[in-house]
Amino acid sequence: MDSEEWSRVDAWFAERLLAGDGDHDRLLEANARAGLPEIDVSPLQGKFLHLLARAMGARRVLEIGTLGGYSTLWLARAVGPEGRVVTLEYEPRHAAVARSNLVRFGMNDRVDVRTGAALDLLPKVEARGHGPFDLVFIDADKANQDVYLAWALRLSRPGTAIIGDNVVRDGEVVDGDSVNPGVQGIRRFVDLLASEPRLSATAIQTVGAKGWDGFAFAVVE
Ligand code: SAH
Ligand code: DHB
Ligand code: MG
Repeated sequence: MDSEEWSRVDAWFAERLLAGDGDHDRLLEANARAGLPEIDVSPLQGKFLHLLARAMGARRVLEIGTLGGYSTLWLARAVGPEGRVVTLEYEPRHAAVARSNLVRFGMNDRVDVRTGAALDLLPKVEARGHGPFDLVFIDADKANQDVYLAWALRLSRPGTAIIGDNVVRDGEVVDGDSVNPGVQGIRRFVDLLASEPRLSATAIQTVGAKGWDGFAFAVVE
């Protein structure tokens, strides 16, 4: 099996399970026209986040790493009109594209796109009393993945779900000697998942349109 076959299987499922909603595809087209990197979650993964949020009845969602708002749209559609998504994005250009997408697809009333480094923004999110969140999606710079996990925990309540993206990265995660700061950040993130008594966690490897990767899933005790 190679990534071409994984993509074909992803497409097969997507044709069947993601039919009838073109907005997400149109959002990706807008991102491509704006020249954003194509590092959004895959469509099937986006719907997974959406269904997870719905199954939990999540009303308050925190996302770290917005890009053009693709995962944000999936999450925003899950929280309902009274729900809120706070999403943090370092690059003003990415945040601007995300805001315009969320206006276009009718989600701007329930999404707050904050521009800046997540480590600067998270204390403000806390100070403004936006937490505790029901679900936190961590998908920004991987070198800080562990620090974002500590923040996610701080902004959580028992039962909060925390999802961390890109925890496998072609298997590099198991290489303790890796000089990639992102890999070391993910390794510290996993160490914290393991050692923090308030977290119960698992990790799921994925293959598909985005290659070989995976996500970690944790629930706050
Ligand atoms: N969640 C998005 C993809 C996010 S890609 C989706 O699935 O659609 C990662 C994003 O994190 C990029 O837009 C990048 O600019 C942003 N980022 C990188 N470093 C950051 C930081 N320190 N604080 C906040 N965002 C950051
Ligand atoms: C990258 C970042 C992501 O969040 C992702 O899902 C895939 C790739 C990246 O920075 O290369
Ligand atoms: Mg990601």
